[in-house]
Amino acid sequence: MSNYTIKVYPDPVLRKIADEVHEINEGTRALIKDMFEIMEEEGGIGLAAPQVGISKRIIVLSLKEKNFDKMALINPVIVSGSKETAFVEEGCLSIPGINADVQRSTKLIARGLTRSGKMVEITASNLLTRVLLHEIDHLDGVLFIDRLSDKEKKKVEGDLQALYQQYSTVTP
Ligand code: CO
Repeated sequence: MSNYTIKVYPDPVLRKIADEVHEINEGTRALIKDMFEIMEEEGGIGLAAPQVGISKRIIVLSLKEKNFDKMALINPVIVSGSKETAFVEEGCLSIPGINADVQRSTKLIARGLTRSGKMVEITASNLLTRVLLHEIDHLDGVLFIDRLSDKEKKKVEGDLQALYQQYSTVTP
């Protein structure tokens, strides 16, 4: 069992700008290990630390692509994104049951630190691009529902409202 649980919309931690990681230590690696565990349990392909309640700039990915089947990136940044975009359906472990088409770049270059503190530059296309953009958005308090067209927004409005009522904490 992991030490963390998935934070669900509208949990305020999902809206915070996450802090840079200044030192990669045992605690960082333990957190990453837990994040992989949760992502696997929940069947996700990407997870950002704020989604487990930790407001730090850490993401993990699990794609079928070589080298990205179990990748963690610390302090990731987008260096550049393509002008070419595509609309692809997305979901999020923190917004259960809701899917919608999101317009994003199809290619990008990103940079970040690995678990061992090595700086890597990633040239990504398609799904990897999308997952990186989605997860890095989380570090800035941005959710995919913020990026929907008015038409897509309308489609998910009711479900989102239901989640809001189910998960918002009401102080008596
Ligand atoms: Co997400």
